[in-house]
Amino acid sequence: MSAYRPSQLVRGAALAVAVLVLSACERPPIEYVQSGYRGTAMGQVYNPRHLATQADVNVAPAALPPAGEGTPAAKTIYQNVPVLGDLSAAEFTRLMVAITGWVAPESEGCGYCHNLANLASDEKYTKVVSRRMIQMTQYINATWKQHVASSGNPGAGVTCHTCHRGKQVPANVWVAERPPGPQGGSLGNRVGQNNPVRAVAWSTLPQDAFTPYFLGTGESIRVAATTALPTGYVDTLNRTEKTYGLMMHMSDGLGVNCTFCHNSRNFGDWENSTPQRVTAWHGIRMVREINNGYLAPLASALPTHRKGPLGDAPKANCATCHQGAYKPLYGTPVLADYATALGGAPPATAAAALRKGGRS
Ligand code: HEC
Ligand code: HEC
Ligand code: HEC
Ligand code: HEC
Repeated sequence: MSAYRPSQLVRGAALAVAVLVLSACERPPIEYVQSGYRGTAMGQVYNPRHLATQADVNVAPAALPPAGEGTPAAKTIYQNVPVLGDLSAAEFTRLMVAITGWVAPESEGCGYCHNLANLASDEKYTKVVSRRMIQMTQYINATWKQHVASSGNPGAGVTCHTCHRGKQVPANVWVAERPPGPQGGSLGNRVGQNNPVRAVAWSTLPQDAFTPYFLGTGESIRVAATTALPTGYVDTLNRTEKTYGLMMHMSDGLGVNCTFCHNSRNFGDWENSTPQRVTAWHGIRMVREINNGYLAPLASALPTHRKGPLGDAPKANCATCHQGAYKPLYGTPVLADYATALGGAPPATAAAALRKGGRS
């Protein structure tokens, strides 16, 4: 006869459940893909179940049929087209249909950006924001080929869909958070960390991995000291923790391990790093430039409910485009079908747009 009392059984069962729930391990099978020499631990660990949940969001929509030839320039027909005026009227209309599907497929259609009684009017903020978004997309494709076309010529490139995926506001954006008060409740002052958030992949690292690196001039991303003797202990420690916070975001945003870019025998050494680390280096600078030049200044155009608690505009990070994949949409070359419109403005058009008061 068993000598266990029911209360012991309940406790035992509770313990077993707690072990399962609190365990950091993921249930097998797990896949391992080797990416470097044997014995160097260069490889990626994938959970096939995570990959399966991601597959749907990373499918690019079919491109619209090519525009017909021989139509006049849009600017000869329409009144208020400072950015897209040089496109043929057919290509212009094709882009309008495409952006409706990329950004607002389930709302009012063209009416999401337009007063349908007067398509030339700029009264809807969504149209004003879109004009700037078109310029930003052209800028990314024309200026940051080392990142968004890193697979070669023509490379993958980006369209509105890369970030928006059929949503009015992309799923992954960030805003400034209210700084924690001097007291963090019963746990004391958390000095902006020890409060697991997605931004740093649920780690206890400093919560704001974005403001220092993805805005303004950008802080240095370094852990190794540059002087023989410590010159500012607290500064170095803080910088180290913030660097790791950013790295957690980059791994999480791309769905990869650290060894996708680094050889863990020396994280700082470029000779030992993979080519992907160079692409990522450009990516960090690209994200900073699009936030500084395009997204942050849009705060003046956005309604309050679209802004963060401190009144700033939502901004981009690695996950805005990548959404958990090592390449957005697993590297589908999405720009090729829209290169005329979004591949990069010829200088004349860009200059004209600025003269006409395109927001900057
Ligand atoms: C996501 C926002 C957005 C959506 C949705 C959208 N448009 Fe536009 N549309 C714009 C922007 C921005 C411009 C101005 C382009 C420029 O500055 O060169 C514009 C300009 C136009 C113009 C030129 C009007 C003029 O005389 O100046 C027409 C016509 C037009 N759109 C038609 C459409 C149609 C038709 C649809 C639906 C199939 C549509 N648009 C959906 C953003 C949008
Ligand atoms: C690099 C990522 C990225 C790309 C590419 C991009 N957007 Fe955005 N978009 C954002 C972010 C971030 C926001 C939220 C911040 C804001 O509204 O300014 C946004 C907001 C918007 C909004 C405002 C939505 C609302 O309801 O408040 C519109 C409209 C829009 N984008 C249109 C476009 C169009 C059209 C394109 C392609 C020409 C495009 N976007 C390309 C990142 C992107
Ligand atoms: C997608 C590529 C990528 C991934 C993934 C990545 N890193 Fe990095 N890492 C970089 C780049 C690029 C730099 C240099 C940034 C710069 O100088 O602007 C860097 C810098 C670092 C540094 C600073 C080295 C120095 O010179 O002091 C450390 C430490 C580091 N990474 C650790 C990690 C760890 C730990 C992980 C996993 C949690 C990780 N990285 C994931 C690309 C990556
Ligand atoms: C504007 C959208 C966008 C943003 C934001 C973005 N990326 Fe990318 N990234 C891309 C595209 C598109 C590619 C694929 C380029 C190609 O294959 O031609 C890519 C490719 C890469 C690759 C190369 C992968 C490989 O296997 O070769 C790395 C690494 C990478 N991105 C890291 C980052 C990091 C880190 C960040 C944030 C600092 C970031 N990306 C932000 C669009 C973006």
